[in-house]
Amino acid sequence: MKYPDIKTYERLYQKYLLGDRSKEMLDLAGDIRDKVFLDICCGGGRLTKEAIGMGTKKNVMIDSAASMIGKGFDIRGLTQVIIMSVEDALLKMRKTNNMVDVAMCQQGINYWLTESKAWQLSLLMPEGGIFIFNTFNKRPSEIPKIREYTLLNPGKMNKSHYVEINWCVKKEWFDVYHVQICQGEEPHFTKFKWMDERYIRSCLKKFFDVELIIDNKTSIYKCIKK
Ligand SMILES: C[S@@+](CC[C@H](N)C(=O)[O-])C[C@H]1O[C@@H](n2cnc3c(N)ncnc32)[C@H](O)[C@@H]1O
Repeated sequence: MKYPDIKTYERLYQKYLLGDRSKEMLDLAGDIRDKVFLDICCGGGRLTKEAIGMGTKKNVMIDSAASMIGKGFDIRGLTQVIIMSVEDALLKMRKTNNMVDVAMCQQGINYWLTESKAWQLSLLMPEGGIFIFNTFNKRPSEIPKIREYTLLNPGKMNKSHYVEINWCVKKEWFDVYHVQICQGEEPHFTKFKWMDERYIRSCLKKFFDVELIIDNKTSIYKCIKK
């Protein structure tokens, strides 16, 4: 199911936005001044906002949902927004020789990573180019699990009640299903592929040197184009 507009998304997924890894991921890339930056599955563009602040020369944002893209990105024409699937966007960039030095994907890799898309991405990068992404590293149970919690509404004195249900279904691989519910909002449902370290490395290893940087509740991978 398509992601909702950014305001609804931020309310529905408030818990996940509190765990923002943008700064950590950008710091891993080193000095990105004057680099071309690619934000894959950019959503509201929190990575791009930080990257612009760090002095990138140009930014490209990819997301299939126009409603998710935050406003005000065309800062002095430095930012290009591509509203397409990752696959189509990478092909389009290849056709227009749209090269990038640093690519990142926060909370989105499980929607698109395959060996062929890793290859498409690598074709856009020079040797030594950096690709950083995060993913969760505990596979949800095959038995649907319900989590309930209450969060303070930002800038308000009241709270909202949340319910999440997630589970895995085993096919050739595991698909993860996630239902996100917040009082006062329509529920959101999403499905993505469970990717363990072995799968991730198998997609990337031909084109990138892959390093697993942090292995906590979510993992961050840093990949250097060969
Ligand atoms: C969980 S949100 C993360 C947004 C943003 N990276 C962040 O950390 O705030 C996932 C985003 O991926 C986008 N997305 C999912 N599948 C996609 C695909 N195949 N191609 C492009 N964008 C996709 C969704 O529209 C959504 O905006």
